[in-house]
Amino acid sequence: MVPFKSGMVVVGANFCGRNTEIVKLKAHIERCSRVCLVGERRIGKTSLVHETVRRLRGRVLIFVDLLGVKSSGDVVRRMVEGVFVSAPRSMLTRLAKSFVALRPVVGIDPLTNAPTLGLSPGVKPPPETLEEALDYMSRQKGAVVFFDEFQTLLDLPVSEQEDLVARMRSRIQMHAETPYVFAGSLRAEMDRIFFDHASPFYKAAVRFELGPLDRSAFGSFLRKSFADGRRSIADPLLVRIFDLCHDVPGDVQRLCQCLWDESRMGTKLEEPMLATALHRLFSDEERAYTILLEYVTGQQLKCLRALGEMGGGASLSGQLLALTGVAANSSVQRALNSLVKKRILFRQGKLYRFCDPFFGEWIRLKRL
Ligand SMILES: Nc1ncnc2c1ncn2[C@@H]1O[C@H](COP(=O)(O)OP(=O)(O)OP(=O)(O)O)[C@@H](O)[C@H]1O
Ligand SMILES: [Mg+2]
Repeated sequence: MVPFKSGMVVVGANFCGRNTEIVKLKAHIERCSRVCLVGERRIGKTSLVHETVRRLRGRVLIFVDLLGVKSSGDVVRRMVEGVFVSAPRSMLTRLAKSFVALRPVVGIDPLTNAPTLGLSPGVKPPPETLEEALDYMSRQKGAVVFFDEFQTLLDLPVSEQEDLVARMRSRIQMHAETPYVFAGSLRAEMDRIFFDHASPFYKAAVRFELGPLDRSAFGSFLRKSFADGRRSIADPLLVRIFDLCHDVPGDVQRLCQCLWDESRMGTKLEEPMLATALHRLFSDEERAYTILLEYVTGQQLKCLRALGEMGGGASLSGQLLALTGVAANSSVQRALNSLVKKRILFRQGKLYRFCDPFFGEWIRLKRL
């Protein structure tokens, strides 16, 4: 079995480190706080919340993934599903029964023609309104409500979105006994929801920034994973992987998975293996990368190429300008901003980085 997990939530033995973050998040949960968890893609937000709640006794995670919701109806449905999916098996029957109510049935006795009144089980509709769904979640024993990809709400039509966000905020503030975590990777959008004074959620949550995993802890974890499968990895190769992936755990694990696939038991993996692993990864992604390039202008490609040359991330400096070969600073600035809008790059302070570091490496190696 491949010992590297990527593209999925990791918990238990597959979860590495993060002790400080877990202690901090646990404290927020125990205080029934509202937490706005922000971190770049694949950094480990979803896994952190799952693992933290898993380690808390008497707490149940109600996981509401908002990715792809198109209407407020979808949001309500996701909340109800969240309760069902998160419930331990032993609670499922009770939950299902909670939608069955006794319904009065009026009838006529066929012998006497007298009216009769009986009770029969009827189906009580599951929560239908936003308020009902929020109340329903908070009523679950030990509930920790986790809205993931919360910034997706801003993709809803404006009229619907404003109403939904305001109603959510006003209902949630009634649930003093329920901790809420809101996670998202699009910093600007999350800031709009939680830190823009015009937003109903303004200052409604404490900010929790999630950074990369500690290199030495993650390094030991990965070395052990290789050892479990009778391989070993040379330190310089591990350093190259961390650098290439900017320490993002999801990307690191993905590359390690490719290394694993390309190696045999009993081997020691050295630096030259990196090219082989990348080759494997590119063969899976080539089509997607080629399509992505169709959305990029010539000027933007020059910027991507220059960023690739600079290790996949850089601020707008003289060196970056020189590498693009574009004379005007403002043109490069415009191109970088468009690439951020297209979600090919993201911005962290002054730094521009590839959302997918392997795309940058692909452009660099292909000499596009
Ligand atoms: N603590 C960890 N230990 C080991 N691997 C981890 C850890 N956290 C994250 N990963 C790796 O990162 C991947 C992505 O994790 P997760 O889905 O939790 O991140 P995310 O920040 O929620 O990502 P996204 O922004 O795509 O939703 C996992 O599949 C795993 O490979
Ligand atoms: Mg996630």
